[in-house]
Amino acid sequence: MPLLQVEDLRVQFHTDDGVVRAVDGASFNLEPGEALGIVGESGSGKSVTNLAILGLIPQPPGKIDSGRALFHGRDLLKMSQKELQTVRGHKIAMIFQDPMTSLNPFLTVAEQLTEVTRLHLKYTAKRALDHAVTMLERVGIPAAARRVHDYPHQFSGGMRQRVMVAMALSCKPEIIIADEPTTALDVTIQAQILDLMRQLQREEGTAIILITHSLGVVANLCGRVSVMYAGKFVEEAPVDRLFARPRHPYTLGLLQSIPRLDEKRGDRLHPIQGQPPDMIRLPSGCAFHPRCPFKVDKCVEEVPPLFTSPEGTRYACFVDVTAVREEAAAK
Ligand SMILES: Nc1ncnc2c1ncn2[C@@H]1O[C@H](COP(=O)(O)OP(=O)(O)OP(=O)(O)O)[C@@H](O)[C@H]1O
Ligand SMILES: [Mg+2]
Repeated sequence: MPLLQVEDLRVQFHTDDGVVRAVDGASFNLEPGEALGIVGESGSGKSVTNLAILGLIPQPPGKIDSGRALFHGRDLLKMSQKELQTVRGHKIAMIFQDPMTSLNPFLTVAEQLTEVTRLHLKYTAKRALDHAVTMLERVGIPAAARRVHDYPHQFSGGMRQRVMVAMALSCKPEIIIADEPTTALDVTIQAQILDLMRQLQREEGTAIILITHSLGVVANLCGRVSVMYAGKFVEEAPVDRLFARPRHPYTLGLLQSIPRLDEKRGDRLHPIQGQPPDMIRLPSGCAFHPRCPFKVDKCVEEVPPLFTSPEGTRYACFVDVTAVREEAAAK
């Protein structure tokens, strides 16, 4: 049984300009101990999907229109805030895109890091403090034993991000949802944080949802990846297969825009043409059609459902992208 099972999640925001369909029928499963990547460009609904699961969408302006998110067979979307508090931070921890949303500026890092382990793991004050220092060391904070007594504003942006990672990992959660955990960090620290998450997954069997813009980061950590576009999941496959045989033109576009070491210098990257869609006035049919080099008439008229390929990739596209490319290459 999946550890987390999300079905047909729909989240809207009612704004002065109109209704934003931020998440429009998202379904995915997370198996125990697996790392799932969610990629997609800015505004595609990655954060909202995961905030909704944890009951963190402000309502209004937000509204969860439909869906279920089963965790150990219980629907998170139906839980009271009180019940959710026992899940959040303890069983499911989230590393937020913006560290200041989850660090309290009035409490020292020690106070915040020890609070979770004392509350949820019943650590003594001494043990909790030792654990906090160890966690800070593991995320690469220098002089951790001293810095643990500082306030969040005394840390740099990248260090605050790492403090938050330490906090999320402290309670040995069953699921870590990491929303762009490494974007603000330099590459060495990025690699260190990814290593730490990998280690946790291996040693503790922690399942991970990693939200990112970068397929490169996904390839580094995840076994499976879901691609979001304009509030929908448009492709889902094991990482290797997604790289070898992308089924959705948007995924193909993402892959072609990654710099590769094995390409000759001077080879051009191919950024995806056009602009991300206006989420209030989405195009008819497939939301990607105005930017799609493979589109056919049907794409303008009909929203593609999720198909399953013979290998098991789920994808929302009427065109066999790989076949079209192979045909073009053969000419
Ligand atoms: N509180 C809100 N009020 C109105 N619209 C919102 C609100 N929060 C999110 N949205 C809209 O929902 C859509 C999805 O946002 P979301 O934050 O999930 O994007 P994302 O994929 O995480 O992007 P990024 O990569 O930039 O973090 C966007 O169009 C955004 O403008
Ligand atoms: Mg986001």
